[in-house]
Amino acid sequence: MLTAPKDTYTISWRDGVVHMIDQRVLPDRFEVLELTDYRQVADAIRTMAVRGAPAIGVSAALGLALAAQEALAGPPAEFFERLRAAGQTLRETRPTAVNLFWAIDRVLRVAESQAGDPERAAAAVLAEALAMQEEDVLANRAMGAFGGPLLPEGGNVLTHCNTGSLATVYYGTALGVIRNAFEDGKQLHVWVDETRPRLQGMKLTAWECRELGIPATVISDNMAGWAMRQGKVDAVIVGADRIAANGDTANKIGTYAAAVLAQAHQIPFYVAAPLSTVDFSLATGAEIPIEERAADEVTHVNGVQVAPDGAQVYNPAFDVTPAGLITAIITDRAVVYPPYTENLARLREA
Ligand code: MRU
Repeated sequence: MLTAPKDTYTISWRDGVVHMIDQRVLPDRFEVLELTDYRQVADAIRTMAVRGAPAIGVSAALGLALAAQEALAGPPAEFFERLRAAGQTLRETRPTAVNLFWAIDRVLRVAESQAGDPERAAAAVLAEALAMQEEDVLANRAMGAFGGPLLPEGGNVLTHCNTGSLATVYYGTALGVIRNAFEDGKQLHVWVDETRPRLQGMKLTAWECRELGIPATVISDNMAGWAMRQGKVDAVIVGADRIAANGDTANKIGTYAAAVLAQAHQIPFYVAAPLSTVDFSLATGAEIPIEERAADEVTHVNGVQVAPDGAQVYNPAFDVTPAGLITAIITDRAVVYPPYTENLARLREA
């Protein structure tokens, strides 16, 4: 099996080129894409070469840095129009993770505050994107420090999808919390939901756990309930793609089922996400747009068709877990407990 340096950033900027780990080929191969055009970055997000809410946010920001370089080579009068058009292309890649829109808006705002000067704006775009990259790592470390103590010594922790280094710039959100507890010396074991249809758990989380030496066992998603019933799960922790103001949380499809099962078995269910994942413009999760992806993600496994020809498919990529099923939301600023509407708003203002 291949190995990779533990400290590899999922996305980085080197000499005007965006480097990103190609998550489509893990764990078979470890390959790094080198992208020089924002359109390639948009493709990488759409095709899930890079995925995970924080990772796609930072990728889009670095994509805008590429777009700014390109626009600088064109007529100065068109610079801002071209940059905004690139932002629009990046926006249209995936609809659910709010980090994407948050990152694009933040970078465009900085560009537009440079008194109409393209050179200054291009430099500011890159500086902002790089700042977001470093902030992401710090946010993950902070979530780890806040959340790690919540995980029980000797506990079995179930997680869904991939929320590790690969889903962020480095370290991870929910898996970062697990990693923090593990690095603090807690004896933990991770139940890794395989996460159909794209298998981010089995392919990426199991790989990251192995790289880090964290004991982990892969189960297919439909085994989680039985593992809980047998007393083999002490806590569940997941990430988030968008959290509404009331705490309703959109995350990888299957998260809702895990939350219902956790409640039925009186197991704490934690969400770990930076405060930037909270979309305060949405009152409840009912307003979160849910991405639907292509049928072949369901009918095929690793490119091999396993469903009969013509099988009808429903493939929502995310679901929404109602706030009432969530024990606590571990953010980069604090651990937030219900009532979420009040407590998230208070944290935002703090
Ligand atoms: O479709 P994906 O792989 O981008 O979905 C990723 C998830 O649902 C993660 O759990 C979420 O982005 C949180 S990652 C830190």
